[in-house]
Amino acid sequence: MHYDPWSPNEQRYPPGEEQARLGELHDRFLERSSHYIGFPNSRILDFSSLAPFLKFNINNIGDPYHPNDGINTCEFERELLDFFSEIFHLDLGQGWGYLTNGGTEGNMYGIVRGRDAYPDARLIFSEESHYCFKKIAHLLRMPYSVVPCHADGRLDLEAFAAIIDALKGQPCVINLNLGTTFHGAIESPTEVLNILDRHGCHEYYLHIDAALYGPMLPFIPGAPVFDFRLPIHSLSFSGHKFLGTPIPCGMVLCSLRQPSGFGGSAEYVGSVDTTLSGSRDGLSTLILWSLISRLKRAGLAELAQESLMLAEDAVSRLKQAGLANIRHDYGNIIVFRRPGEDLARRWQLATRGDFAHIVTVPGVTGEMLKRFVSELVQDFENDQDHHLDSHGLQACSVSPCLIKIPQVDLG
Ligand SMILES: Cc1ncc(COP(=O)(O)O)c(C=O)c1O
Repeated sequence: MHYDPWSPNEQRYPPGEEQARLGELHDRFLERSSHYIGFPNSRILDFSSLAPFLKFNINNIGDPYHPNDGINTCEFERELLDFFSEIFHLDLGQGWGYLTNGGTEGNMYGIVRGRDAYPDARLIFSEESHYCFKKIAHLLRMPYSVVPCHADGRLDLEAFAAIIDALKGQPCVINLNLGTTFHGAIESPTEVLNILDRHGCHEYYLHIDAALYGPMLPFIPGAPVFDFRLPIHSLSFSGHKFLGTPIPCGMVLCSLRQPSGFGGSAEYVGSVDTTLSGSRDGLSTLILWSLISRLKRAGLAELAQESLMLAEDAVSRLKQAGLANIRHDYGNIIVFRRPGEDLARRWQLATRGDFAHIVTVPGVTGEMLKRFVSELVQDFENDQDHHLDSHGLQACSVSPCLIKIPQVDLG
């Protein structure tokens, strides 16, 4: 069947200035990508082969298990749900999931389920959680407690236990991070479950925010278990972080099959309204599917291991240069003292107060790290008064090595 409604308009509105603007933008993006080490967005595959699908209005509106007859990629979405459920040991016969617009939506969905299960519950999350949790608590009008963390980003388990103790058995909804946004610290579900048990807290809902490590740690031997083999209730991750889809997306999986309290008919679009978003992007689903079809489990495992090896490489380069840093076990995030603004901007470093971090996801190369560390050393040597407060690096459990800058005394 030949059907081409596009070309008449292509001829009516030919590209003019648009091409030049886009050319400039493309060059800028290429340059920025060669200095992109501050945020956790991999660059694994080139998805240009999917360009023909840009012609279509792909919309996975509604529930992936009740697609309409229109232009959608729900079939591919369900294959992705199968793939990741297996990885996270979720029996999809009992559970459910969908592809979200990103990590925040997955977290929101998980917490909504928890609030539905326990309408009067208190939401508990650590101070190193992603900023979206305060927004979620606000939108859902949930009372919340923020658990303090140690200076290196680890959850303060004693403080957590005190919060649980004060609840005196009242229900709670808990978020744990795999790992935290800034330090990549792992908030261990097994340790937290032990505390809940010891304090007689049996009415809880446990959500795992595995935005970055979700598709990475299951392939690392010895990494902490954080999946549905434990009594967790939902888990979400981002598709544009470790997996590096060029369009933001994510996945949420949940142990309950029955729809949430808000789930109803979406007759107008021929589906069921079980997702937080109405219209949902179907192109990112296709991209993720294409990535997984090519990589499979073995490819993901290889990339996860390479990412951790590169993190070790970054740590040893920083150490050799005499620069203190923090990197947690099984983590690909490396925290160090914040350099001057020019360097931070040039390398798009994620910064917070006196600290900055880099993330060694696929796409970052040893060559980039080498250049970055030499510029960092140069930057500190040129600007010795800059950000000399060592708080946090000395208090951390991961022993930092001494910083080379003469005025600094890290003890
Ligand atoms: C731990 C964690 N959770 C959630 C998010 C939010 O993810 P998204 O930007 O995909 O909404 C992030 C993003 O950095 C994150 O690090």
